[in-house]
Amino acid sequence: MKIAILTGAGVSAESGLGTFRDKGGMWTKYDLDEVATPQGFVRNPALVHDFYNARRANCVQAAPNAAHDALARLEKSAHDVTLITQNVDDLHERAGSQAVIHMHGSLTQATCAVCHATWVAPLVMAPDDPCPDCAAPATRPDIVWFGEVPYHMDQIAKVVSEADLFVAIGTSAEVYPAAGLVEIAQGRTLEVNLAPSAQANAFEDHLIGPATKVVPDWVAGLL
Ligand code: APR
Repeated sequence: MKIAILTGAGVSAESGLGTFRDKGGMWTKYDLDEVATPQGFVRNPALVHDFYNARRANCVQAAPNAAHDALARLEKSAHDVTLITQNVDDLHERAGSQAVIHMHGSLTQATCAVCHATWVAPLVMAPDDPCPDCAAPATRPDIVWFGEVPYHMDQIAKVVSEADLFVAIGTSAEVYPAAGLVEIAQGRTLEVNLAPSAQANAFEDHLIGPATKVVPDWVAGLL
């Protein structure tokens, strides 16, 4: 079976990485206009680097959880699995998943705002770091900010529309275009979340509960 899986912050929550919109979430503590937009980066690059340096440090200390592990097992099975993640952490990869599409970029990568070269991000980035390719002091985390176009959208649309099953795990479905992917799914649709998301009505099937419990049980049923 072809399975397309969209993951959000909820899949990494039990690894200790914060979500965005839950009580106490990242966007209740930080102003997203200041730390997650191109305009905020122009106004105060040091603040933006500090925010992502802290997130990179958290990510390095975190470990994949039972949900990441189960999704990696599913990929190794006879099913044809593609993971599409909104997460910028690398916990899917560290759990062993290989077909991972990072639609919102990656904390582990840096990019140059001038020449668009990309390279492995150092643990700590700073505004004056020169680009290794063109030397411009315009390096930024390779993260898709609000107002920017997510990566790999053509590939994602193809994978989702061709899948026999589309599953969304741990995402509030508040951010487009990720939230709209369920609309182009042609196969069966399943939402896994602690609570129904903003798009819950668009899904046929629902599993409610923590990802570390629900995802391994669901994967075990498929294997
Ligand atoms: N198990 C399952 N679901 C969970 C868990 C858990 N342990 N903990 C939280 N959730 C669910 C919440 O109920 C919520 O629906 O995960 C979702 C997290 O939602 P958000 O914080 O909005 O995260 P996400 O949907 O990934 O955000 C999308 O917004 O700011 C951006 O770019 C950022 O990629 C991110 C995008």
